[in-house]
Amino acid sequence: MTTAQTPALDVIVVGSGIAGLITALHAVEHGCRVTLVTKDVLEHANTRYAQGGIAGVMFDDDHIEDHVRDTLTAGAGLSDPVAVRVLAEEGPARIRELVELGVAFDRDAEGAFVKGLEAAHSYPRILHSGGDATGTAIEKALVARLRVSDVRVIEHAFLVDLVVRDARVTGVELLVDDRPAELGRRETLESDAVVLATGGAGELYAHTTNPPVATGDGIAAAIRAGGAVADLEFFQFHPTVLEGKADAAGSGADSFLVSEAVRGEGATLIDEHGRRFAFDAHPDGELAPRDVVARAIARQMEQQDGRPVFLDATHLRATPDETAAFLARRFPTIDRAVRERGLDWAREPIPVTPAAHYLMGGVTTDLFGRTSLPSLYAVGEVARTGVHGANRLASNSLLEGAVFGARAGDAIVPDAASGVWPAADALAGSSGLASASRPAGDTLPAADAPPFSRDALQQLLWEDAGLVRDGAGLGHAASVLAAWAAVARSPRTEAEFEDENLLVVAEALVGAALVRRESVGAHFRRDDAVRHETPVATLTAEVA
Ligand code: SIN
Repeated sequence: MTTAQTPALDVIVVGSGIAGLITALHAVEHGCRVTLVTKDVLEHANTRYAQGGIAGVMFDDDHIEDHVRDTLTAGAGLSDPVAVRVLAEEGPARIRELVELGVAFDRDAEGAFVKGLEAAHSYPRILHSGGDATGTAIEKALVARLRVSDVRVIEHAFLVDLVVRDARVTGVELLVDDRPAELGRRETLESDAVVLATGGAGELYAHTTNPPVATGDGIAAAIRAGGAVADLEFFQFHPTVLEGKADAAGSGADSFLVSEAVRGEGATLIDEHGRRFAFDAHPDGELAPRDVVARAIARQMEQQDGRPVFLDATHLRATPDETAAFLARRFPTIDRAVRERGLDWAREPIPVTPAAHYLMGGVTTDLFGRTSLPSLYAVGEVARTGVHGANRLASNSLLEGAVFGARAGDAIVPDAASGVWPAADALAGSSGLASASRPAGDTLPAADAPPFSRDALQQLLWEDAGLVRDGAGLGHAASVLAAWAAVARSPRTEAEFEDENLLVVAEALVGAALVRRESVGAHFRRDDAVRHETPVATLTAEVA
């Protein structure tokens, strides 16, 4: 290991979203030799699909305390208050850093940032760029900076596994795409520290807002290496994705996200008869926490035999033409996608359904991205920092990536100089591998396990471990997953490795969901008696 006097540490960052890019840029500033590897090209991370924006206390009449409170409330009591305070307090500095790095957040005629409101925020503290293209703007600016930095970049390099030696993570094993050869070649890269920034796992589900790269690779690698993970039962479903596919592909994801910011501007949710139904579930209606709105939509869809509900933006301005002009200006990406599907949302409500969106849990970290495995860090969606608890507050994800990415990038040199990797002891006991302790009796025989495939896994999780779960469904999912896991396979292609990763993460998710018998935040069990926010009438109907 190098020392503070000779700080040429080798650091490998795996992943190229906001968290990985910020970590790499900070680590290289501290004199590290940074290699960033990514399984696609740099720009193809989940970050670029983020529409709504980035939350932060950037206005004089907003308060850190309020951002902290909103985040804790959305997290349904399971967030780590210290991590939340770090997020809110350091957020503004990170947003200013993004501005310095070239991110042009939208401003009004006077040059002030335009304020955006999203669900469960008590103040319109969301900054956006290009209307609804915030993630793209951030990704572009950070990639541009990275390309002129000393960070070495290896694209099309898939993380097969972490290398663990003497109880430390000492590198990564990669499958490097050697186009046009089909299988790529295996390579091992050694390093002093590895940072997982591999994003989430939306590909676990049949319907997701995530691009196809979101296959839980970092979480699976950490689990295989014996790292602690937590909160995997908390998968957030976004309430509003556009029903139906575009003729021309408008997105890398199969379900096109319609930002919560549209509801923040005043759009409403209506059933197929035109009735607003969100207030049945929560006094804040369409702007209630995301998990509440998503379940309200799912319940409404059930009552109308699975047909989608509608998002009505037709009244946002005085006339349809004015509304059309406003929507095209404020939400250019969504406007294009809606129109590609032959819909005119200035004149008619558009069909929307929920889809898997964001994994709150992940590889357990401390406040500097350190994991339970010495010299392994995790940042961004792959990490479980404790910020999101049981349900992430809208637009806190880009912020989390920036804040904790910077912290990890700043921590590596002093951690190495200290000669110890401080997180190991603190986190060793917090393993979220609840699948190892499945309650007896919840697992059913898997007589009906179909052959293993990604489609079959996605359908299984959608049906049995989705927005609404119960013990029987989870037990069924657990037994099918166990049957699939018991069959020895030898993955050779990137897609096959991804499938194995999805299986590992699915088992851990379902195991954790089985263990948590109460409904909280995004984890909603219909067989649970504790329903904090569900109106009694709905509860009675569901139970019946
Ligand atoms: C959205 O724009 O609705 C998504 C933003 C987020 O997930 O925070």
